[in-house]
Amino acid sequence: MRILVTGGAGYIGSHTVLALLNSGYEVVVLDNFSNGSWEALLRVEGLTGKRITLVEGDIGDRGCLDHLFAENAIDSVLHFAGLKAVGDSMADPLTYYVNNLAGTLTLCQAMSCADVHELVFSSSATIYGDGHPMPLHEGLPSGRPASPYGRSKLMVEEVLRDLAGSDNRWRIALLRYFNPVGAHPSGEIGEDPQGAPNNLVPFIAQVAVGRRDELVVYGNDYSTPDGTGVRDYIHVMDLAEGHLRAMVALSERPGVSVWNLGTGRGHSVLEVIAAFERAAKRRIPYRIEARRPGDIAAYWADSAKAQAELGWWARRSLDEMMADTWHWQQGNPCGYQRKLGIATG
Ligand code: NAD
Ligand code: UD1
Repeated sequence: MRILVTGGAGYIGSHTVLALLNSGYEVVVLDNFSNGSWEALLRVEGLTGKRITLVEGDIGDRGCLDHLFAENAIDSVLHFAGLKAVGDSMADPLTYYVNNLAGTLTLCQAMSCADVHELVFSSSATIYGDGHPMPLHEGLPSGRPASPYGRSKLMVEEVLRDLAGSDNRWRIALLRYFNPVGAHPSGEIGEDPQGAPNNLVPFIAQVAVGRRDELVVYGNDYSTPDGTGVRDYIHVMDLAEGHLRAMVALSERPGVSVWNLGTGRGHSVLEVIAAFERAAKRRIPYRIEARRPGDIAAYWADSAKAQAELGWWARRSLDEMMADTWHWQQGNPCGYQRKLGIATG
């Protein structure tokens, strides 16, 4: 089977490409490299000993998509391409809607013309919004996500439901990720944020490796066991494997299927710091500051549906997530630029 992976040069996409190649799939990656890395794909080829067909292009470019589908007999599409910085989406919502929403519409049009109707979409737990009892299960009504980024994910979910309702050839998975962290255990590929990381684990990793002086913990006055925010962190390789399970399951599931991809367990910021300190065998300096606007106290997944329907559950512990993050960060203190010899600030 030949799989199109949009955004395959990014963090989650590259780990999923690796899992696909190791499972015997052929892979075509479409990426515009707005936040992806050639080096990641070269390393995936090195790790797997397999070749990737790479198309440099944009999901919003219909001509590029039509050419790609004409040249490659695609069976299924894993759609990771998108912009994901919450703060940027507030500053520049139109760019987010054009990229994430309009780009997905164009992709679906091109798929339809090419008679490809199987799609796995990268959604997010952010679509549940605030105010639900925990854990979050797929049957809950979606809420109002706190940012244009989150709303672009919810809008795409709605569009894909309409699409599946209009034509029963479509088989679509909406995968709602919780908090992806970690790296491939080889330490060869991992998360490589541009600029200062917005998310907790990449920030801790950069403090540990000496690129930043200290972590700021946003609030210790939440109604959680230690007062800091609680999230459901999931290892990126568990997430990647969840995509393969979902894709296989889709062959017998017309319409839209929704699955949470989380561990079902919440961990506080202080627990994450402690786990990282154990993995890296060094102290992570931090100070407490006020809550970050828009943050909520705690959320985690009900992961029973994916377990029952896909036979998938997250196997890797928080300690493994931190150990693999550290292995990657220590070997690549400046991310993918290290082996290319590019100086970084
Ligand atoms: P990433 O930025 O590392 O990867 C996204 C990739 O898509 C990049 O390689 C980028 O160059 C590419 N891309 C962006 N816009 C494109 C376009 N218009 N055409 C072609 N390529 C394009 O992000 P990631 O963390 O790997 O996330 C993958 C997907 O999962 C995204 O859709 C993201 O919104 C979603 N998601 C991520 C998280 C997370 O915490 N990382 C959580 C929930 C959902
Ligand atoms: C963020 C996004 C969310 C996205 C998710 C995917 C925001 C507001 N939300 O969620 O849309 O779906 O990533 O992983 O960006 N923290 C610190 N110090 C830091 C960074 C974070 O204390 O420097 C805390 C936060 O307050 C939170 C926890 O760590 O309690 C996790 O934060 P983060 O990694 O940014 O993820 P989310 O906020 O859950």
